[in-house]
Amino acid sequence: LKDLAINPMIELWIEDHPRWNDLIRLIEKLDQTRWVESRYDWHQSSHMLVAVEDEQPVGFLRFVIQEIGVEDDRPSVTLDDKPLLEAKVLAFGVHEDYRNRGIGRALQESAIAHAAEMGCYQLRSHSSGSNRANHHLKLQMGFAVMPIIRGEDREGAYFIMPLKRLSAKA
Ligand SMILES: CC(C)(COP(=O)(O)OP(=O)(O)OC[C@H]1O[C@@H](n2cnc3c(N)ncnc32)[C@H](O)[C@@H]1OP(=O)(O)O)[C@@H](O)C(=O)NCCC(=O)NCCS
Repeated sequence: LKDLAINPMIELWIEDHPRWNDLIRLIEKLDQTRWVESRYDWHQSSHMLVAVEDEQPVGFLRFVIQEIGVEDDRPSVTLDDKPLLEAKVLAFGVHEDYRNRGIGRALQESAIAHAAEMGCYQLRSHSSGSNRANHHLKLQMGFAVMPIIRGEDREGAYFIMPLKRLSAKA
């Protein structure tokens, strides 16, 4: 996957990056370790976008590529008999001291550009009801919203950005 120059502060990191341990500490601080470590058979690949300021990681977004539908133990969604792919965002956070400066939006925009480049049909994430800033950001960016009740959480939602118009016709 190549670095797309959407925003110069957003970089694509792999685990041998010299500041990877600083990133892991930020992820732990924001209590998202399990979302960064989760691996499932249906993930085709996993990618970490990092917002960098003064060489330090200040935000992150992890997405995986998968066929649409398979995580719900059902056949994949197809178009003309070809399975459609989606980028699913599993972890997303910005250091508290750096919030409300557009870094979250820049991470989402970069993820959208990468997903389109990889031929994905959509980019999708789930956000629990308590993440008000995340809901605001997604709605402000024009994501479609699909409210869903999960256990005690009655205000969570899936947010979906369609990409087909952005990706090359297969
Ligand atoms: C969600 C998050 C990543 C956004 O990062 P960010 O860099 O602050 O995002 P941006 O600056 O691009 O946008 C934030 C938007 O939310 C708004 N906002 C901030 N706090 C808010 C709140 N409590 N309620 C509603 N909107 C809020 C800001 O005004 C801004 O909107 P605007 O551009 O229309 O003014 C960050 O808040 C975060 O890390 N939250 C904790 C972790 C989390 O919820 N992760 C997502 C679920 S996994």
